[in-house]
Amino acid sequence: MANVTVIGAQWGDEGKGKLVDWLSNRADVVVRFQGGHNAGHTLVVGNQVFKLSLLPSGVVQGKLSIIGNGVVVDPWHLLKEIETIAAQGVAITPANLVLADNACLILPIHRDLDQAREAAAQNKIGTTGRGIGPAYEDKVGRRAIRVADLADRAALEAKIDRLLAHHAPLRKGLGLPDFDGAALLAELEGLAPKVLAYAQPAWRLLDAEVKAGRRVLFEGAQGALLDVDHGTYPYVTSSNTVAGQAAAGSGLGPKGPGYVLGIVKAYTTRVGEGPFPTELTDEVGQHLGTVGREFGTVTGRSRRCGWFDAALVRQSVALNGIAGVALTKLDVLDGLPKLKICTGYTLAGQPIDYLPAGLKAQGQLQPVYEELEGWAETTQGARSWRDLPANAVKYVRRIEELIGAPVALLSTSPQRDDTILMRDPFQD
Ligand code: GDP
Ligand code: IMO
Ligand code: MG
Repeated sequence: MANVTVIGAQWGDEGKGKLVDWLSNRADVVVRFQGGHNAGHTLVVGNQVFKLSLLPSGVVQGKLSIIGNGVVVDPWHLLKEIETIAAQGVAITPANLVLADNACLILPIHRDLDQAREAAAQNKIGTTGRGIGPAYEDKVGRRAIRVADLADRAALEAKIDRLLAHHAPLRKGLGLPDFDGAALLAELEGLAPKVLAYAQPAWRLLDAEVKAGRRVLFEGAQGALLDVDHGTYPYVTSSNTVAGQAAAGSGLGPKGPGYVLGIVKAYTTRVGEGPFPTELTDEVGQHLGTVGREFGTVTGRSRRCGWFDAALVRQSVALNGIAGVALTKLDVLDGLPKLKICTGYTLAGQPIDYLPAGLKAQGQLQPVYEELEGWAETTQGARSWRDLPANAVKYVRRIEELIGAPVALLSTSPQRDDTILMRDPFQD
C-alpha cells in the first residue's frame, strides 16, 4: 500500500508531529487535510525543537508539503510560521510548500468572535481562541474568503462586504466594536502576493504525484474524540478529524488515505473542557502531567491527564479504520508501581463498552479498570523491543488486545530516532 494517514486516536497531542516527521523520510509528499493553527506539533531533532501549527511536519525533512483545501488558513500566521521555521534553518519555498488555492481563510473577525464567545459563555469549550470554529462556520455558510480570492480585488471587496454584513450583528451582540472592512482589504492585498506564491490547485498536484508513483503521508491534526461528528460534541473542534477526511480535505479519492496509522498515547490527555471518564485529579495525574510535560503547545495550558482508556481507542480504531497504531510516551509510565487500563464503563449501573453520543451520558460514565503491574526500569530512549522490561511488553500487548489493532511503532522519547519500528506502514 502506497499512502499512509496519521491521525490522533484520542483527544489530540498524541505525538502525531513526531511520528509524521519520522515517517516522512519514507514518503515523498506530506499533506495536512483539516484543522488550522489550533494544532501544535512538536518535533525534537537533536538539540533542535520545531513547533509547527500549520505547516505539515514534512517540511523539516524537506519533503513536498501541502496544506490541503480542508485546512482553514490564517494567512498572517502562515507567513509568520514560515519565517520562524526558516530561521531555524529549514528552507521553505514554493517548490516544497504548496497551499491549496481553494482553502478558506481565517481572518481577525474569526479570532475576535471565537475569543468573545468564549469570554461570554457559561459553558466554555476551552478553544484555542484562534478563530477555527467561526472560520469553518463561514466556510459551510458559503461566505468564506478563499486563497484564490486574494488574486481578485473585486471578489475580495464583495466578499468582505458580505462577511461583515453577517458578522456585524454578532459582534454587536458580544459588545465588539465595528470591524474596519477597508483596513482588512488593504491588509489582505498587502499579503496576497506572498501567500499566492505558494498557492495552486493542490488536488491536481497530488493527482500527478500519485500517478507518478510517489508516496503520500497525510498528517491529521487534533484527535478522533475532537471530531465534530464523532467526538465529545460540543466539546470538539470544528472539523472532521477522522481519517476519512484525508480524502475530502486534500482532493484525493477515497483510496487516497491508504494505511491508517492511529497515534495513541500510552495514557490519556485532553486540553480544554468536556467529558473525560478516566481523568485523574490526584498525584498520579500530576505525575503524568509533569513527567510527560503535558502543556499545550499552542496555548501553554496544562493538559488534563488520566489512565489509558481502551474503550475510547477501540472506538477510534473503528471510526478511522485504523490498521495499526504508534504507541507514544510509554516512557512516561516508567516507575509507576501499578497501572490501570479502562476496559469499558458502567452507565447507571449497566455495562457499556463505548462512548454514548449524549453529553449527559458521557459525563456519567464510570470507568471499569483492569490493574497491571508497572515496571521500575526505564524505557526512555529504548530503540529495540528487546530493551523493554517484561511488564512494559505486557502493557503494550494488553493494549493491542483491548483496542483490536497491532502496535506498529513505539515511541520512547520526544527525539526523532527514539522510535521502534515493528511493521512499516508503507509496506503493509
Ligand atoms: P501532536 O499534537 O499529536 O503532534 O503532539 P504534541 O507535539 O502536541 O504533544 C506530544 C508531546 O510529547 C511533544 O512535546 C513531543 O515532543 C512529546 N513526545 C512525543 N513522543 C514522545 C514519547 O514517546 N515520549 C515522550 N516522553 N515524549 C514524547
Ligand atoms: P493537535 O493537532 C489538543 C481542542 C481545544 C478545545 C477544542 C476546540 O496538537 O493534537 P478549537 O480551537 O479547535 O476550536 O478548540 O479542541 N484542540 C486541541 N486539543 N490538541 C490539538 O491539536 C487541539 N486542537 C484543538 O483545546 O478543547
Ligand atoms: Mg499537539
